[in-house]
Amino acid sequence: MAHKAVGIDIGGTGIKGAVVDVSTGKLLSDRVKLPTPEGGEPDDIVETVQEVLKKLGDVGRKDPIGVCFPAVVVNGRTLSAANVSKKWIGLEAESLFEKGLGRKISFVNDADAAGYAESLYGAAEKNKGLILVTTLGTGIGTAIIYRGVLIPNAELGHIQLEGVDWETKAAYSAKEREDLSWVEWAARLQKYYAALEALFHPDLFIVGGGVSKEYEDFLPLLKLDTPIVPAKLRNNAGILGAAAVASGR
Ligand code: BGC
Repeated sequence: MAHKAVGIDIGGTGIKGAVVDVSTGKLLSDRVKLPTPEGGEPDDIVETVQEVLKKLGDVGRKDPIGVCFPAVVVNGRTLSAANVSKKWIGLEAESLFEKGLGRKISFVNDADAAGYAESLYGAAEKNKGLILVTTLGTGIGTAIIYRGVLIPNAELGHIQLEGVDWETKAAYSAKEREDLSWVEWAARLQKYYAALEALFHPDLFIVGGGVSKEYEDFLPLLKLDTPIVPAKLRNNAGILGAAAVASGR
């Protein structure tokens, strides 16, 4: 297993990267961030990732690279495209990046990377039961981790409640779009987490995404039997998880 790896986190607004010490989960470089190209087309994103790597300089040149992305990823192929260009559906994304970057990479779902990082270095570091990690952003990303093992590609953000894809109602983007108060938004989150609780009976929920730093405004409003805590790694979770996967951790 490598001790150092590069993690790249591709999101709807930014592409971030850093070199990571995967045994501790600490960053070994500055975090580089560039805006996601308009339209989110595959070739443009590969180019931006090249730029991010260039900016990281020599520091990670020989290290494994993990890239995380907001889609279902099976054997390096992106099978979905919620909130990104439809060109990603059915694309051999891992090979596309390997060609563009001239080296091997590991390509994984963004919430899986973030969730795995929380299980290794963050809010679930000490909990080895069944953990559901949810990221509340443009969409709702989810990761299932059982006894430290990631069960990949859970798409629980798209659970249908009241006849609609609940991500469209309960993601942070819905709060912003509809100008919901914390109380109004929390009512939607309550329905969401209660449904997950009834279906999975997890030992712990972890709530990530940028809004998790404001957890005091909404987590106390939820009434659940399962403990629910904010993510610890915040903005770095995707980078850390992608790096960990690439290193073989
Ligand atoms: C996508 C997931 C992704 C999540 C967070 C959802 O819309 O379906 O694959 O993990 O957004 O980006």
